[in-house]
Amino acid sequence: MLHSRYLVVQPSNLMLDDFYPEVFKCPPSFPIIVERGFKAEVWTRDGRRFLDFSGAATSLGQAHPKVVSRVKEGVEKLTGFSGLLAPNEPFLMLAKELRSLVPVKNASIAYATTGSEASDFAIQLAKFATKRQVILSFYGAYHGLTGYALQSSPTEGMRRVSPRTSEAVYAPYPNCFRCPLRAEGCEECSQAVLEFIEEEVIGRAVEPEDLAGIMVEPLQSHGGILFPPSSFFRGLREVADRTGALLMVDEVYTGFGRTGKWFGIEHHGVEPDVVVMGKGIAGGLPLSAVAFRSDLVEEWYLCSGGSLGTYAGHYLGVLAALATIEAIKEENLVENALRRGEEMKKGLEEFVDRYDFVADARGVGCVQGIEIVEGGRPSKDLASKVKGALFRNGLLAITVGRHHNVIKLTPPITITAEQMEEALSMIDRSLKEVSREAGR
Ligand SMILES: Cc1ncc(COP(=O)(O)O)c(C=O)c1O
Repeated sequence: MLHSRYLVVQPSNLMLDDFYPEVFKCPPSFPIIVERGFKAEVWTRDGRRFLDFSGAATSLGQAHPKVVSRVKEGVEKLTGFSGLLAPNEPFLMLAKELRSLVPVKNASIAYATTGSEASDFAIQLAKFATKRQVILSFYGAYHGLTGYALQSSPTEGMRRVSPRTSEAVYAPYPNCFRCPLRAEGCEECSQAVLEFIEEEVIGRAVEPEDLAGIMVEPLQSHGGILFPPSSFFRGLREVADRTGALLMVDEVYTGFGRTGKWFGIEHHGVEPDVVVMGKGIAGGLPLSAVAFRSDLVEEWYLCSGGSLGTYAGHYLGVLAALATIEAIKEENLVENALRRGEEMKKGLEEFVDRYDFVADARGVGCVQGIEIVEGGRPSKDLASKVKGALFRNGLLAITVGRHHNVIKLTPPITITAEQMEEALSMIDRSLKEVSREAGR
């Protein structure tokens, strides 16, 4: 008899209950085993089909044919000669492409592997370039799970594991629907937050000469689909200019077309000093990158040859990223994100009118969400029922936000008009079911 070490596990025998909560201590968002996907659709092992509005790793969705064929060709040639030692041609070509795309003039590029790492490296770069230590970030932000990225992500779960430090200071993030500073209106909330930063952060929580950088998402997704007005980002640019800190935008979620622009910050006409990229960059393969003003440093000792680590700028990831950029351009997917986003917004706004527990619809392009309330107050419980109903009706979506009561609706930018219509009717059906269950 073979020792169990040599037994080959038959995938069809595996059940989720065998793994959760013992082998894996953290439950998955959805109780399914995913088998395959194509753009906005995914299928489970038992043949169920879902439209994927959870939008985790990729802005193109699953298995885009261009990405698949490039990666297939590539893996026959090279499986992973590290960019730390010497570049390959696609590695160089992608850096040129990124320079032409990012909203930073003559940017330098460094590759990493995950969004967390890229955020972390951006913060390290800011500290190194400015010879200062303190980073200002925002409540509700999510920049990743590693060191500095985690410190700059003061959401409730993150703060439990992140070390407390005087090198991180925080401010509220504008929320046009439910302003944390109780201001009425979007511009007013943005203004109140900027005043808070001027009066309570700079010179109180941190001396201006100690502020290395401001790390900000152009739209907070985990924070609850919050999309502040441009005045907020213009204000942050002014704070950065006045204090000598760097303005760093985390485009891990919002980059590569998702918001209906190549990068989310382009909605606001503000030029950042550093852009952090991940997720959507490589059609689902692990790749991330940091683009930064070239004059910030003479030489950055952390990276070698443009790579921040053994797998950073991995050959297959870089090939996938070139294919992704090509697909976005050839198929006009930035435009598609905007058009589909308009259809989604129109549908979601109708739900706000129709269902009293849907209090707000917000977001832009393919990054939107609805806020669920009960008796006018945020309701995690009802939001979780909506999430469950969406799942039963074939749509994958998760809850986000301070009160876990915002349903995040982020389809890939390859979604078609027909699929968007289908998704909206799934959402309608789900809301109707929840409404009926709640006896409304
Ligand atoms: C805005 C933002 N930054 C950083 C990250 C971290 O990226 P990763 O999970 O690839 O480490 C995420 C992931 O959700 C994100 O949404």
